[in-house]
Amino acid sequence: MNIRNPICFRKHPLRFGVADSDLQVIGESRARSQEGSCQTMWDAFARERGIDTPARGCGRYDRWEEDVALLNQLGIRHYRTSVSWSRILREHGEVNESAIAWYHRFFDALRSHGIRVYVTLYHWELPQTVATRGGWRQRETVGEFLKHCRTVHERLDPVIDEYFVLNEPSCTALFGHFRGIHAPGEQSLPAALEAAHHLLLAQGLAVRELHERGAQVSTVINIQPTYAASLDEADILARQRSYEYWNGWFLDPLFRGTYPEQQLAFYGSCMPAQFESDMETIRVGHLLHALGVNYYNGEVAEADPNSEVRFQRVLTEGPTNDLGWPVFIRPYQPEGLYDSMRELYHRYERDGLKRLYITETGFAGEGEPGNPSDDQRRINFLDEHVRQTAAAIRSGVPIEALFVWSFCDSYEWQDGHKPESHFGLVGIDPVTLKRTPKRSALWYSDLIAQRMLPAI
Ligand code: FCB
Repeated sequence: MNIRNPICFRKHPLRFGVADSDLQVIGESRARSQEGSCQTMWDAFARERGIDTPARGCGRYDRWEEDVALLNQLGIRHYRTSVSWSRILREHGEVNESAIAWYHRFFDALRSHGIRVYVTLYHWELPQTVATRGGWRQRETVGEFLKHCRTVHERLDPVIDEYFVLNEPSCTALFGHFRGIHAPGEQSLPAALEAAHHLLLAQGLAVRELHERGAQVSTVINIQPTYAASLDEADILARQRSYEYWNGWFLDPLFRGTYPEQQLAFYGSCMPAQFESDMETIRVGHLLHALGVNYYNGEVAEADPNSEVRFQRVLTEGPTNDLGWPVFIRPYQPEGLYDSMRELYHRYERDGLKRLYITETGFAGEGEPGNPSDDQRRINFLDEHVRQTAAAIRSGVPIEALFVWSFCDSYEWQDGHKPESHFGLVGIDPVTLKRTPKRSALWYSDLIAQRMLPAI
């Protein structure tokens, strides 16, 4: 029995959607063989490490009509995906007409069912040829990315409703170039700062250009609300370091045209040469239609003098998802989504932040043993985070959309296709690729139809 307060959205126009990204679902090998698209850096990285590649995805390339029908059946009217740079442009920069035609058909079908199409222009689908030339560490990559953005706008704008420029630049920079767990797998702080700067510059230029062209343009960051492990001054400083490292480093430049002062002083000589002259170009927060926020969990930080960044994450008690990520659910953990939406909005509202979308949130893990479709834990997670969203809205934060990650089980980057990494509302049979809506899909469908949180 649901003994918690009912939450009703009938008087509030919050849009409920689902999200995925092209490389995680398309089946890269099929797209490459059919349309001669480029190899992505993730394919090369995964082969080198001997882990699952994005070759199979969930077979979207051939099954897109089925997926459109399923979205429609579930009543989903807001759908976020990405348009892959590796598919849109061929190796020497020519436009890949087959890929353009594929996206046209797919988006057109979605729109003909009244489904609004939101596209991310970079959800980590860097062409391997660009990665070989240095990828995001090279300033030239910015110009090549702009060509991709321009092509998408020129060729696909009639079937796209809204744009997001980047997905989670902090993951590309910090996981890809500092921690080495994402493609391209580098482990160097100066490299990460270089990549971060070029991503921010690319974002600034793309937002300016798309805005001038009249597009509704936003961008997507990931947020880690951070809590200090204790009231000790050193841990409070560690909390601030962690916040600036994950969040402030990517948001202050976007909204204020500056890197956070203390963190900048700390990085000192690791910074790219003459970064200052780009900062005004990077400051485009006021031009954004919305800020997209991906949220999965919070972090508790404590001081660590031996770490290169002087803090470390503390493992907390309480539930985790099957990937081992702590799940910030009351009463075990603070209300991570609520806290971060409030902190974000109030930190940047005077710098032009107008509205927020939650562009991803979701739970990784399997259903009940023997019945993968019975995913009550995912329902519990979503119920909690819809409640936190409602509370943030009630407190005055302008959140206008929430997209569940993810529509279906898909290729989960370094975790490949492991069942523990399944985030989908819809399950995918690994052999037949048959789609089966899980209990959470029906729960979500009900929420959308009734505009009221179903009892759980
Ligand atoms: C986010 C990514 C998304 C997916 C989820 C689980 O960081 O944007 O592609 O992998 O995590």
